[in-house]
This record gives sequence, structure tokens and C-alpha cells, in this order.
Amino acid sequence: MFAYSQNDYYCEQVPLADLAHQAGTPAYVYSSQAILQNYAAYTQAFGALPHTVCYAVKANSSLAILALLAKAGAGFDIVSGGELYRVLQAGGDPSKVVFSGVGKTAAEVEYALESGIHTFNCESEAELALLDAKAARLGKTAGFSIRVNPDVDAVTHPYISTGLSRHKFGIAIAGAAAVYERARQFRNLVAEGVSCHIGSQILDPSPILEAVDKVLALANTLRAQGHPIRHLDLGGGLGVAYHAGEKSPEIRAFVEMLSSRLQASGLTAMIEPGRSIVGPAGVLLTRVLYRKRNGDKEFLVVDAAMNDLIRPSLYRAHHEILPLRKNSLPLVTMDVVGPVCETGDFLARDRAMANAMPGDFLAVSTAGAYGFVLSSNYNSRPRAPEVLVEGATWRIIRQREQYQDLVRGETL
Ligand code: LLP
Repeated sequence: MFAYSQNDYYCEQVPLADLAHQAGTPAYVYSSQAILQNYAAYTQAFGALPHTVCYAVKANSSLAILALLAKAGAGFDIVSGGELYRVLQAGGDPSKVVFSGVGKTAAEVEYALESGIHTFNCESEAELALLDAKAARLGKTAGFSIRVNPDVDAVTHPYISTGLSRHKFGIAIAGAAAVYERARQFRNLVAEGVSCHIGSQILDPSPILEAVDKVLALANTLRAQGHPIRHLDLGGGLGVAYHAGEKSPEIRAFVEMLSSRLQASGLTAMIEPGRSIVGPAGVLLTRVLYRKRNGDKEFLVVDAAMNDLIRPSLYRAHHEILPLRKNSLPLVTMDVVGPVCETGDFLARDRAMANAMPGDFLAVSTAGAYGFVLSSNYNSRPRAPEVLVEGATWRIIRQREQYQDLVRGETL
């Protein structure tokens, strides 16, 4: 959905340089078509297998994007009361919401129960006890899955790998059946599923498949013991291509491998993809402020910074940076840095890239997931606007913050 036509870089049918002139920079821009296509790739690949695709709200929680997915029929994976509020504001169906996370508060559990969400992915026995008590008080029954930790190594950045026994997530798979057994004491809970999630930005799906096999075996054991397990929640995690020329794993092929494993089980498949739906569907537009040289190094100072997109600083993540208008000059090796007062404020280091000059616009690619949601007001920088492209039209779905927004809620 992002491509050059002649020398101009487009999102769908919108030339991004024109958009950047009108909306200003920095600005996030998303392709609605790309988001819907990625979502459809998941649902279509499941075919006749009963399934719910619960988009992981944390990847990009803007209302217009949630609304787009809600209209397409998506469910949602939430990790906080705030995310549930967003889903409801966007018109999402609470009966397709699954609540994940290791630290749900009593107030969040209550809010979710009152909203009538589908199920809770629980990560400790204390959480099960809390859920039972809250459900009892509200006169409700709550469906739950235990998020098991399958002790499988997802080959990814250590900060976003979650499936090893030394991580804080889930309940060790070896002891999980005993926990389901003890949970029978909770009168207001129903053991509806088993869930797992081993990490994010996983490019080789084999560890996910290994985890699925383990979780499926557990589900079969539990059913043999009389637990009413109806679904398997396989988490999110499928990676995307951040490097030019890199091949991202295909959603369709991945889902086919999952569904062939579940085919004979009679279980409903649930999945919680975030990045693979919105990541490649977004870019961060920025403008070059200055070019400068310190010693041997060439710097391109742009108006987007680590507060707008923290992934390069936090995970050493690579995002391609492309000019919105191509020139024919040879590439130059530069550091692309922002205005924030930290050496760690960079979008790219030692990158051979287009010979951009002050005033030129650039697109930081594959920024639709974990981009805006991780942005902050560090250095008292107003957060960027967000724009949604639909064919030849675009609209602002979140306005650029103003200085007044920076001090809202503060008192002298
Ligand atoms: N389900 C659970 C329980 C999760 O913890 C996550 C992501 C997902 C689903 C969605 O995973 P995805 O399909 O997006 O890989 N900020 C990091 C990524 C953190 C991922 C956290 N959990 C980044 O920028 O790479």
C-alpha cells in the first residue's frame, strides 16, 4: 500500500509529500486498506475452522483503527481497563474481547465483568481467586483460560520474548493441569480455554508451533479430566519485515499451519495478532531540519524523535527511511537523529540512505505498530497527529497536540 509512482511516494492513492505539507510533520499515516487486508488474511486462512481474531489493541489503539477492525468483525485482545474503554468507544463488541496481562487490578476486573467481555486470560492463582470473588459479587460467571508458559524460546529481542520459565508471564505448563483442578473450587468461574503467547516479532514460526503442540496436548488432557475447554488462544507474535528486501512470514501460510493442528480437536481457535496487522500499514512522516557533520560522521537532524518512535532507541530496531520525493543523487551514510537531548535519540545509525536536504520529507517505514502508542511528551514535545488514508482521501484521526495539551491536568 506504500509505493513509489514515478518519484513520489504514495500511501494508496495519496502522494505523501502533499499530505505532509498539509498535515505537517511529524505525523503518523496509516493505510486502511493494508490494515483490512492483513486482518482478512487471518480470518480467511482459518477458513471453516471456528475462530476469533482478537486484534492486540496495544499495537495501535487509536479509535478510528479500532473502529475499522470492529466493523470488519474483529475481536480484541486488551491488557488494561483503558484499552477496554477504547474498544467500547470505538464500537467494538465486548463479547469478542479477551483480557490478557499479568497484573489486572480489581477495578479493571470489575469493569471487564460489567462490560460483559468474553474471557479472561489469567496468569496466577491469586488472579483466579480475585476474578471469582468479583464475579460472585456481581452475580456473574466468568470464563477463563490459564495463560501457560510453555518454556519455548521465541527467537526475538529479549525484551519481547515471553515464553521461557524465567519470564514473569503465565503459569508453568508442567503445573497447569493442577491449577485447573484447584480452580474447580471457584464457583463463579468456567475453565473455557487454554492460552499462551511466547513473544513478539517472531520471524520463524516454528517456536510458536512447538508451543501450540504443547498447549493442545494440555487442552486434551484437561478435557479428558472433565474441564469444559472450548478454545485455544494462541497469542500473537508473528513478525514483519523491517529491512528492505527482507521477507516477512506470510500470515496465510502461518495460520494454515496453526489450523491444521487444531482441525481435529473440535476447539475454537483464538489468536491475538497486533504487529502483523498494523505494523506494515503505517509510516511516520518527518522533515529534515539540518544536515551537519561532526568529525567523520554525517548527521541528518529531523523533526521526529525518540519520543515519537522509541523502537530504534529501545530495541535497536531497524526501520527503513525513505524520501517522499526521490532524487538521483548517490546514497550517503548518515545517522538520522531527532531534536531530543539524548545521544540515544536516533531513528537510524550509519545508514546508507537518500541524500536528503533540509526541508525534504522522509517516511520512517513499518511504524504502524508500537509507534504512536509508545510515544511520549518527553522534552515537552506535543505528540504527533495520526492520519488515516482511504483510497484517494485521507483524514486526521488524532489531532496534533498543542502546548495547552502538555499542561492539561497540572496545577501551579
Ligand atoms: N498477546 C499478548 C498477550 C501480548 O503480550 C502481545 C504483545 C500480543 C498478543 C501481540 O503481539 P504481536 O502480534 O504484536 O507481536 N513494544 C514491542 C512489542 C511488545 C509486544 C508485547 N506483547 C515492540 O515495539 O517491538
